[in-house]
Amino acid sequence: MTQLVNYLQEVRHYLHRFPELSGQEYATTAYLREQLASHDIAVLDLPLQTGLVAEVRGEQPGPLVVLRSDIDALPIEEQSGDAFRSQNPGVMHACGHDFHASAALGAAILLQQQRAQLAGSVRILFQPAEETGHGAPAIIASGALDGAKVIFGLHNDPGLPVGVVGCKAGALTAGVDRFAIRIKGTGTHAARPHEGNDPIVIAGQLITALQTLIARNLPSDQNAVVSITQIHSGTTWNVIPEEAWLEGTVRTFNADSRTLLEQRLRQLLTGLGVSFNAELALDWQPGPPSVWNDERWAAFTLDQAPASELEARTIEASPIGEDFAFYQQHIPGAFVMVGSGGPWPLHHPQFRVDDQALFPAARYLAALAFAAGHELAAEA
Ligand code: NI
Repeated sequence: MTQLVNYLQEVRHYLHRFPELSGQEYATTAYLREQLASHDIAVLDLPLQTGLVAEVRGEQPGPLVVLRSDIDALPIEEQSGDAFRSQNPGVMHACGHDFHASAALGAAILLQQQRAQLAGSVRILFQPAEETGHGAPAIIASGALDGAKVIFGLHNDPGLPVGVVGCKAGALTAGVDRFAIRIKGTGTHAARPHEGNDPIVIAGQLITALQTLIARNLPSDQNAVVSITQIHSGTTWNVIPEEAWLEGTVRTFNADSRTLLEQRLRQLLTGLGVSFNAELALDWQPGPPSVWNDERWAAFTLDQAPASELEARTIEASPIGEDFAFYQQHIPGAFVMVGSGGPWPLHHPQFRVDDQALFPAARYLAALAFAAGHELAAEA
């Protein structure tokens, strides 16, 4: 067992040293393929550019169960100071996907060892491009989920101590939408604003009005976030520019508020356009919806925790995005958060995962798949 603990730690440190951005995980994919092959674990032949899907076939009759991990990194310059810090300039595993991939590999190895007792098959997803939201749709399109009955996934959570697993039924993460707004005014001399149509003044009104989207449209027991994160306009001090451009994100926890906020934003832009006699164009890019945990399987993940020596906690929903949500549009499943220590938050240049959390996470993933296989087999 100590051997597997050390091996998984080495795998994680290796992945951490050589992180790759979303959709470019070629070396990561090749490395994981080698590790799976060295443990005699089958890899499915699927039309995927990057990422891969392993399969462990149990010797007992049973369902197809899916475990999901992700493998991509972020465009961040690492400042952790760790001995195994990123060797790829400007790229970092700052969301701990190296941890997720290593835990999933560990689960695959443990399940392979238990295959005489395993009911059904387990597919282990090493999903690319989670950060861009393109990875899960690519995996689904490859057919990897076809015939599967349930899916489990985890994310490390630096806000939870090592040894704790958190889950809840219903919304766990937020629906993530990205938007950009282009305000087309009319440029002129800064001294003669009446001869133009100042897009910066319109942008000011827009930013203020956006604050009412949530405060005056959603009931007080519903959460959502609207953030403007970029604004660009102008070139110098004495010219009123032609255009202003803003970008931001909307985070919601259910489909109704997601639809409502998009609709209200569109109405607001139309209204401002009329009042200021300007054109306000919206580019709305929908991302993954809210991770929506099935009631039965959320309870199942918490029930299974103590057997893997983890403490189960019911947690609050988080406004982060997670493209695991796309899988749950096809099959039921549950996504859990596994304590990884902290103190730095996800996506921080000093982000770290405590290695102590790795083997328990692998053992827990394997236990979820094993127990779900037997539970579903008994019902069939
Ligand atoms: Ni992540």
